[in-house]
Amino acid sequence: MDKLIIRGGNRLSGTIPISGAKNAALTLIPCALLTEEPMTLRNLPRLADIDGFQHLMTQFGISTEIHGKRAEEFGRVVTFEASRITSTVAPYDLVRKMRASILVLGPMLARMGEATVSMPGGCAIGNRPIDLHLKALEAFGAEIELTQGYVKAMQPDGGLPGGDFDFPVVSVGATENALMTAVLANGTSRLFNAAREPEIVDLCNLLSAMGAEIEGIGTSDLTIHGVDRLHGATYRVMADRIEAGSYACAAAITGGEVRLEGANAHDMASTIHALRNIGLHIEEDKKGVSVAANGALKPTDLTTAPFPGLATDMQAQLMSLLTKAEGTSVLKETIFENRFMHVPELARMGADISTEGRTAIVKGPADLTGAEVMATDLRASMSLIIAALAAEGETTVRRIYHLDRGYERLEEKLQLVGADIQRVGDD
Ligand code: EPZ
Repeated sequence: MDKLIIRGGNRLSGTIPISGAKNAALTLIPCALLTEEPMTLRNLPRLADIDGFQHLMTQFGISTEIHGKRAEEFGRVVTFEASRITSTVAPYDLVRKMRASILVLGPMLARMGEATVSMPGGCAIGNRPIDLHLKALEAFGAEIELTQGYVKAMQPDGGLPGGDFDFPVVSVGATENALMTAVLANGTSRLFNAAREPEIVDLCNLLSAMGAEIEGIGTSDLTIHGVDRLHGATYRVMADRIEAGSYACAAAITGGEVRLEGANAHDMASTIHALRNIGLHIEEDKKGVSVAANGALKPTDLTTAPFPGLATDMQAQLMSLLTKAEGTSVLKETIFENRFMHVPELARMGADISTEGRTAIVKGPADLTGAEVMATDLRASMSLIIAALAAEGETTVRRIYHLDRGYERLEEKLQLVGADIQRVGDD
């Protein structure tokens, strides 16, 4: 297994190209199931999770063709064609490796009238139930059966009538599964308290480009008028707002200034707001976002929330940054039950953080020193990289396969702006 070696102290400066969004791509790819015609996605990031999802799609008999981009460029163009679906089963050995596979349940049910998907199980940050996915599909008229660790969803005779569902908890994935099901239902469906994340808007935009009829895009109340069939489309995946926010924190903690080429300021507004409160100078324009250190970092209290609130996926990275703020910051994690896995590793680098349930108290500025640390979940791993960039000495981060799931060519992008970071094979 590879590891990353980082020597802290370099001030980052320059331009980082921002890739297509992992969490948008993972819900756009299964849309290929909804039509017999080719669907082409541009700006797909080269990530382990995207490769994994492509592999899963081939299990169903879907052809995937990678074309366009040269190897050294960022982003990929892939055409998916589901003219013939040879299996409606997503097997355990694939789903267990990538829980986003649950997002094939809705579109497979909508296209084929049935779908069988292994239950995804939990992960490091929480037990990640899928009850809301299933309740939404039942609200549209699906029959759901849980058997031997699999979810089996079936349409009643005559197809899915569609229906209304009011989400008791905002759920990105359940909103995505519901949308990809309702678009081919016989009638009209309405979702209340639906997730409003930019990735949901990206999904609605692709579905609309394929011929779906969706009203209220970008709001928490969505109305979907089912149509008989959807056609193919070519669509460009949105820029990754979490990748951009992560590199903004990296620039900030080193006292540097970085241009995030391709970042979308609207999508990352809550992160920009937090970074401005912490004391950074941020400029936004149509082609990207520029982040510059601007004196001492100010302690700032942060609470995660569904969009447009502060993204839970940014909590770990901002916590790393706040270890260098001149004072005490309080961070509250309201979305997941176990998303402080980075705290003990940051403490080993000298951070002063105490946690009480879902609240973390960060006292700064800490003198961070390099250490051997272990990556756990994707965003916790990035928070260790951010701390290492400002730490005295050398940090080795192991189990970086977690990082490769969500950050395209991480070390190359950081090397572009002067970071001293190398990927080496683990002895
Ligand atoms: C998506 O996960 C993202 N993953 C996560 O990013 C992100 O942290 C999360 O949304 C919140 O923004 C992808 O898009 C692939 P949820 P998802 O359903 O859909 C509870 C990353 O680092 N819940 O919005 O699984 C759940 O337990 C990843 O890129 C239910 O109770 O998140 C959680 O507490 C990590 N029942 C809350 O809702 C359900 O059926 C929000 O989860 C579904 C969810």
